[in-house]
Amino acid sequence: MTKGRFITFEGPEGSGKTTQLKLLAERLRAEGCDVVETREPGGTVIGRQIREILLNPASTALRPTAELLLMFASRAQNVDEVILPALAAGKTVLCDRFTDSSLAYQGAGRGLGAEVVYDLDRIACRGLVPHLTLLIDVDVETGLARAIQTRMEQLPVTFHRTVRETFLQLAADDPSRIRIIDGHHDTSTISRQIWKVVSMLPE
Ligand code: TMP
Repeated sequence: MTKGRFITFEGPEGSGKTTQLKLLAERLRAEGCDVVETREPGGTVIGRQIREILLNPASTALRPTAELLLMFASRAQNVDEVILPALAAGKTVLCDRFTDSSLAYQGAGRGLGAEVVYDLDRIACRGLVPHLTLLIDVDVETGLARAIQTRMEQLPVTFHRTVRETFLQLAADDPSRIRIIDGHHDTSTISRQIWKVVSMLPE
């Protein structure tokens, strides 16, 4: 069903993954590749409305389970409206965050557990798993110093340490899908490392 390539970017706050996603999109387009860029939460009109609720520091009443369900509501919409149609048309989809973020932030950070995240993933993504995930790893202090203040970024440093450790554990558990890229280097060094990994992917 999925002819195209599905590549996700993950990382703690302030990892620089969004900049790297854009650079990769440019490079792929220069190589003649048909690329679709999307993000989570967001990526669709509905998703952007959900993102506003999730990231607005004023959403203080939002409970962890509601937060998780909203992440997956945005994802379900993005999968149906953008990602699956693009893959079916043979395009390369670059997505800024995906289910690994829910495992790190809600499953581990919020303490909801991995099982409920995998259950929702089955409903929202219906077996869609990234072909490649680029985990741009950066230490929590460096990342938070670079980040802007959303509701998630205001959470305690201990929360963000758990998030980073969970990403690294996910990469250790699935090294063929999740590739760790050192986010402490300068932008062009990082993008060269990413290109080395992406150019090895089968067409
Ligand atoms: P971004 O600004 O890096 O795109 O990320 C949005 C915020 O949402 C970031 O703090 C991580 C958080 N997030 C989750 O907590 N769970 C998720 O499933 C996703 C996709 C993002």
